[in-house]
Amino acid sequence: MSEQPAEPTPPAAVSADLALEVRGVTKRFGALVVLRGIDLVLHQGEVLGLVGDNGAGKSTLVKILSGFHSQDGGEVIVGGEPVRLRSVEDARTHGIETVYQDLALIPQLPVYMNLFLGHELTTMGPLHFLDKKGMRKLSRQYLDEINVHVPSVDAEAEQLSGGQRQAIAVARAMRAATKILLLDEPLAAMGARESRLIIDLVKDLASSGRVSIVVIDHNYAHLFELCDRINVMQGGRIIIDQPVAETSIEDLTELMVSSYRRELENVQNAGA
Ligand SMILES: Nc1ncnc2c1ncn2[C@@H]1O[C@H](COP(=O)(O)OP(=O)(O)O)[C@@H](O)[C@H]1O
Ligand SMILES: [Mg+2]
Repeated sequence: MSEQPAEPTPPAAVSADLALEVRGVTKRFGALVVLRGIDLVLHQGEVLGLVGDNGAGKSTLVKILSGFHSQDGGEVIVGGEPVRLRSVEDARTHGIETVYQDLALIPQLPVYMNLFLGHELTTMGPLHFLDKKGMRKLSRQYLDEINVHVPSVDAEAEQLSGGQRQAIAVARAMRAATKILLLDEPLAAMGARESRLIIDLVKDLASSGRVSIVVIDHNYAHLFELCDRINVMQGGRIIIDQPVAETSIEDLTELMVSSYRRELENVQNAGA
């Protein structure tokens, strides 16, 4: 008599109202364990803020979700479907667009080409040439429409200021994203006026409900203005998940300080 096969465990329920779900995602670089099991949800149309110390692994998580890195373990579920994002291109086909902290634009390409990166227009007819004229025109219109000012759409990205580059990168990703927009410190290189512009753009996009957004920023005031919910990352995990409506900058700071204290005590106890 053969042994009774074990009942297969049913997959945990996947909620259709989630734009994105991350389950137990792990990542190491050589001996350095960066992500120890990230669990995160992003609801449809939601703006989720992600905070954590430098080196906490925020950018690494973003790079996994944008297909740039592959995770070692765990699952990424987009719109209810488990996906394996094999490349940035692959993530794009799932409607995911990213503004990276460290590789926002291609410096040698003109503004209009950067704006259409990965979604280039081509001419009609049997030979698909790049439709540079069309891309230039649309770039001018789009940048005017959203109030982003550059000297010329023909200027190479490296000729722009840090803030202008970042604004172009955000504009590009916002235009291209159909489901999920990942913004990794989009305001880092920006002055107050540019930051305000980008915050308003992201708020507009969020209120349209068209895409769901993850934004990383160290500035709590920005996050409280932009986000519906905030997650705090520490030690390779999400340790705090709070709706903005139910917390304040002071409360969140207090929560983080006490969790750091706990972590510190754990380390000291382990060493004792
Ligand atoms: N490609 C890489 N190779 C090796 N180590 C990396 C790589 N990318 C990031 N790291 C390391 O992983 C840790 C987390 O980095 P990162 O995800 O950039 O953190 P954060 O964005 O929260 O500041 C850091 O210690 C960083 O040095
Ligand atoms: Mg980072």
